[in-house]
Amino acid sequence: MILPSQLPQAVTAVLSRATVFQVVTIKPGDANTETMRSLCGDLAGIVRAVGFRYPEEMLNCVVGIGSDMWDRAFGLPRPAGLHPFREIISGPRHAVSTQGDLLFHIRARHMDLCFELASQVIARLGDAVATADEVHGFRYFDQRDLLGFVDGTENPAGAEAVEAALIGDEDAAFAGGSYVIVQKYLHDLAAWNATPTETQEKIIGRHKLSDIEIPDEAKAPYAHNALTSIEEDGKEIKILRDNMPFGNAGQGEYGTYFVGYARSPATIEKMLQNMFVGNPPGTYDRLLDFSKAVTGSLFFVPSATFLDAAGGG
Ligand code: HEM
Repeated sequence: MILPSQLPQAVTAVLSRATVFQVVTIKPGDANTETMRSLCGDLAGIVRAVGFRYPEEMLNCVVGIGSDMWDRAFGLPRPAGLHPFREIISGPRHAVSTQGDLLFHIRARHMDLCFELASQVIARLGDAVATADEVHGFRYFDQRDLLGFVDGTENPAGAEAVEAALIGDEDAAFAGGSYVIVQKYLHDLAAWNATPTETQEKIIGRHKLSDIEIPDEAKAPYAHNALTSIEEDGKEIKILRDNMPFGNAGQGEYGTYFVGYARSPATIEKMLQNMFVGNPPGTYDRLLDFSKAVTGSLFFVPSATFLDAAGGG
């Protein structure tokens, strides 16, 4: 059970139209760690300052903290499931692990507020920032990804989303928190578009136009939605996704920014294992014949209550 003293961040916020994903690394040194802690403590106030005048924009920001950064800034106790993202290599498929001390997942109806908040966060971190990887995601028409499929349909909602994404009694000191894995994927859109729609549908496990799921008995064993369905003791274990398309048509860049929240990172890691290695091994996700992961990081998302207190030591 989550107590009022463990109010979560906006992990289960409704899907937005615009997103900024900001992954930063923080320079070594106590002063830089202190700058980061103080930003954590003030973040809720900064979000209010940017968003209060535009309530209809539903601006929110979730901050995640990487494993090394956690040790530098907060030490013990540490969240039970927090560790650096584990890379997976299987044949030509590679789930790379890239450095990330902080993730800012900023969502609103329009990009202007996301961008303003990202700017304020970066300004506050100032010289403490070593590197920053910023991706501007947009909701594409019909809720489709750039491969043309509706993305997000089977996401849990309401109480089911809370159950999937928020830590409860299993790690009581960190209840109300969550884990998030992000990966930036680039697609070979020319090759994908040259693939017959029926083959694409087998790869995703849903029909492209109608978004109706292919029945289990007709589904290919390598279907994306088969490999990412995880069962434990007969019960399906869900995660909460908010993938966003991004791209640069002039540069030929077409991507999906994967973002998955879960109360245990093991669930997402199992999905990745199934996708990259296969289940059974070899029955891998054919999406990866057309998609390359160029980043990959795991973060712990503390409760809002924890964050508020972080600045004060
Ligand atoms: C190349 C990047 C990816 C793309 C374009 C993509 C696209 C999709 C699409 C179109 C669906 C079907 C509609 C839906 O239910 O949302 C889906 C389902 C799903 N995806 Fe992905 N996905 C990607 C990466 C991932 C990754 C990395 C994971 C987890 C590690 C993941 C986990 C899931 C899950 C859990 C479902 C729902 C399965 C179900 O219960 O039916 N996806 N994805």
